[in-house]
Amino acid sequence: MFYRDVVRLGEQILVQAGVEDPAWASEILLLYITGKKKIDIYLDREVKVGERERKYFINAINRLTSGEPIQYIIGETFFMDVVINIKKGVFIPRPETELIVEQALKEIFPVKTASILDIGTGSGVIAISLAHFRKGVEIVATDISEIAIKQARENAKINGVRDDICFVISDMYAALKQEKKFDLIISNPPYIPDTEISRLPPNVLQEPMIALNGGKNGMQAINRIIQESELYLKNNGKVVIEIDPDNIEYLDIPEYYRYKFIQGFSGEKRGCVIWKD
Ligand SMILES: C[S@@+](CC[C@H](N)C(=O)[O-])C[C@H]1O[C@@H](n2cnc3c(N)ncnc32)[C@H](O)[C@@H]1O
Repeated sequence: MFYRDVVRLGEQILVQAGVEDPAWASEILLLYITGKKKIDIYLDREVKVGERERKYFINAINRLTSGEPIQYIIGETFFMDVVINIKKGVFIPRPETELIVEQALKEIFPVKTASILDIGTGSGVIAISLAHFRKGVEIVATDISEIAIKQARENAKINGVRDDICFVISDMYAALKQEKKFDLIISNPPYIPDTEISRLPPNVLQEPMIALNGGKNGMQAINRIIQESELYLKNNGKVVIEIDPDNIEYLDIPEYYRYKFIQGFSGEKRGCVIWKD
């Protein structure tokens, strides 16, 4: 079959199943399966797809219609400048988190050799991006999930920053020595309220619950990270944390801290920078 007909077939199946962005998803899947580049298809309209690849493609399309996220099917995703391998059991990075990393890069700009703690590193995207954009930083990245830490280590290696990041399985700060202090504590913790979990779309529910469930009001992990941060911050250190704009009223920042918000793509309060004067 011609490449363009296979893409159209995939798109039709996805439209019928009500999958979002059917044309884009069908094309991405076929490019991934055939290993072709978009330019190959534009230059040669007669490109064909073999029977085996077509079957593999239809299988991938069916996985998508059953609610599996496309990132788990193709096994990778992009974040800022880095390519991240991703498999089931690990949280899929979201574009909003890029704004948090951009802000963190501004906050640590004046510090020559910043030491950074990334709590709940997941696939490692935050730690890896920081190491990628700021050479010479020293990063500790923790996660309570062993699967996540394994994936994050692999991603750091792929992106050439394995020596810059120390990955640790830990419940928040628990595995850290208290005398260790950081210039920056950064996190995108789980922040969906427990009462909202059952209303999440099926594709989101395929992601690990430990990465989604933020407990009561969605703020348990966020408030715990902020409240315990004082013990691990250097004098001029800062916390940069992603938050859910819908639950901002439950954000609990101790009085001794000052803070400012980070704007999301629609001007919402998507993150917070916290520091002491
Ligand atoms: C929303 S995901 C974010 C992952 C990654 N930082 C990102 O932005 O894509 C939250 C992560 O926090 C981890 N996590 C949840 N509870 C934790 C805890 N008590 N201590 C450490 N990590 C935790 C989850 O395993 C998950 O990887």
